[in-house]
Amino acid sequence: MAPSPQVSTHPLLVHKLAKLRSCTTLPSEFRQLVYEISQVLFYEATRDVPLRPTRVVTPLVECEGRELAEKIGLVPVLRAGLGMANAMLDALPEASVWHIGLYRDHATLQPVTYYNKLPPKPDMSMAFVLDPMLATGGSAVEAIRLLKLAGTPQIKFIGLIAAPEGVAALQAAHPNVPIHLAAIDSHLNEIGYIIPGLGDAGDRQFGTA
Ligand code: PRP
Ligand code: URA
Repeated sequence: MAPSPQVSTHPLLVHKLAKLRSCTTLPSEFRQLVYEISQVLFYEATRDVPLRPTRVVTPLVECEGRELAEKIGLVPVLRAGLGMANAMLDALPEASVWHIGLYRDHATLQPVTYYNKLPPKPDMSMAFVLDPMLATGGSAVEAIRLLKLAGTPQIKFIGLIAAPEGVAALQAAHPNVPIHLAAIDSHLNEIGYIIPGLGDAGDRQFGTA
């Protein structure tokens, strides 16, 4: 059985999430909030990444340090995942970034892949799939399917807001992929938008509403 999604209860994140949802929040502030919330989620989602010993020479002596034992890859789903990737790359500059372009067909709500630059064997041992919205779950399920096809051994999903329907679809398709979120909302409306949600995350980041 898939483990329960991890929903952050950090007070700063909860505070920022309310601002993110507000329809009066302008794109510049929206991008900044996506950045700040994403960094909190990234710290929480990497809490269990293993470390290995390394030697460090300080200005005074040599001592033991520890470094990440995983090669971390960030996989933003275009285009709304881009703001999340920027935040996480600032937190971990040595991460590699692999883009997957998917959009959701408005009529069928099915994901359509338009960009996939994953090499046959990506050089990462742990991938974080980034997409602010987990609505029907179709886009996340497809992005993770492509990553698995490319042979990525460990995958986690980080999103901002999910519908229960999206969580259930992702857990059913990929039960071994942990899910990290800022919130799970009430439901999807008749055109597949998360309620209460925040509207269209891509449009709100890039001012194209
Ligand atoms: C949004 C969002 C997800 C998808 C979620 O992208 O960023 O990728 O919808 O919906 P789903 O869970 O039902 O698949 P959208 O298709 O609007 O594309 P965009 O990021 O280019 O705006
Ligand atoms: N994509 C979004 O950007 N928002 C939703 O509510 C659903 C899908």
